[in-house]
Amino acid sequence: MKDVKKDFPVLKTQMHGKPLVYLDSAATSQKPTLVIDTIDDFYRKHYGTVHRAIYELSVKATEDYQQARKKVAKLLNAPSEDSVIFTRGTTEAINLVATSFTKAFIKPGDEILISEMEHHSNIVPWQLACENSGAVLKVAPIDDRGVIIEEEYLKLLSPKTKLVAIGHISNALGTVNPVKKLIKAAHDAGAKFLVDGAQGAPHLKVDVQDLDADFYVFSGHKIYGPTGIGVLYGKKELLDQMPPYQGGGDMIEEVRFDKTTYNILPMKFEAGTPLIAEAIGLGASIDYVNALGLDNIHNHEMTLHKKLEEEMRKRDKVKIIGTAPDKGAITSFIIQGAHHLDIGTLLDLRGVAIRTGHHCAQPAMRHFGLTGTARVSFGVYNTEEDVDTFLKSLDEAICELT
Ligand SMILES: Cc1ncc(COP(=O)(O)O)c(C=O)c1O
Repeated sequence: MKDVKKDFPVLKTQMHGKPLVYLDSAATSQKPTLVIDTIDDFYRKHYGTVHRAIYELSVKATEDYQQARKKVAKLLNAPSEDSVIFTRGTTEAINLVATSFTKAFIKPGDEILISEMEHHSNIVPWQLACENSGAVLKVAPIDDRGVIIEEEYLKLLSPKTKLVAIGHISNALGTVNPVKKLIKAAHDAGAKFLVDGAQGAPHLKVDVQDLDADFYVFSGHKIYGPTGIGVLYGKKELLDQMPPYQGGGDMIEEVRFDKTTYNILPMKFEAGTPLIAEAIGLGASIDYVNALGLDNIHNHEMTLHKKLEEEMRKRDKVKIIGTAPDKGAITSFIIQGAHHLDIGTLLDLRGVAIRTGHHCAQPAMRHFGLTGTARVSFGVYNTEEDVDTFLKSLDEAICELT
């Protein structure tokens, strides 16, 4: 992984006259040259629409677009690429399920279960779904380490529970949820399960068949791909029964004023000219990740994470928020006597980019009596030197502020 940084042009830039140390990959990841060049090449040399035209340019664009879908299916070990729907991102994928699954399967009095640590994208769509359907939203509580309390989770599952939606890894606390176990318990209660994989797919090998996930969603921009593209994997038998999310071109079989019939999967859920360049860019990012190996990426990030947390625990004024036994490479923390925004600002002046705030997880912050934290999150390009620069800068900031 030593040379990986060279693949990311933005990491050669300077911020406030200092070399950039990018530690905000949980928000969004930087892009390797392979992805940038693939998108550039597509627009310069091969750009055309998909599905609609007979000419060579369009045929080639359609092939590349479908090839990207195959790459996603392989990444997730999905049984078929027809159960891979391209969306604008995790948020849109969850909204799609919250709208369409709810219409097909949820009636007043049914329940949808989420957890206290969810990202707002995995809370608000379900609140809207409950408002629209008369269902009731239930929330599985977490303990003070940021772990879902298993017996409470099991108690909340009942024949009324129609869907459970929980994150693979918490972006705010770093907790890796035991999703396979949670899914099994949900299935035993007769509920379907959506995994919010925004922080999972970029860092862990995901096998949707082994997990037996009914839905798995993630965003391209967090896995070194472009913005504006995401993925909804769904079991075919469920997607087949769900009504379209949006109407328009591509998603139809036949349009008549008295009755319109819909296309087969995956087009049924991809209304309008799709995200062609974005999907092709995502395909390139998957190639990039595969070339390095997700297991190698995971081990590398976790080595940095372990070093970081060991060092941070030695500092009296630092409190790590989120101490689950199983964590991804995400560390939320507060500094006694200093506001997280001030910490972030002083680090930025030293070229170190970290995230501060509530991380779109206000309920999780509230659990710890906080309005926000500072957060370090790693990507494949980070190095031991990045950790050292961060720690040195943090020590200086603490000195200045406390
Ligand atoms: C756990 C989690 N879920 C959902 C999202 C939303 O992803 P996007 O904004 O790419 O749709 C994020 C993004 O930070 C996330 O970390």
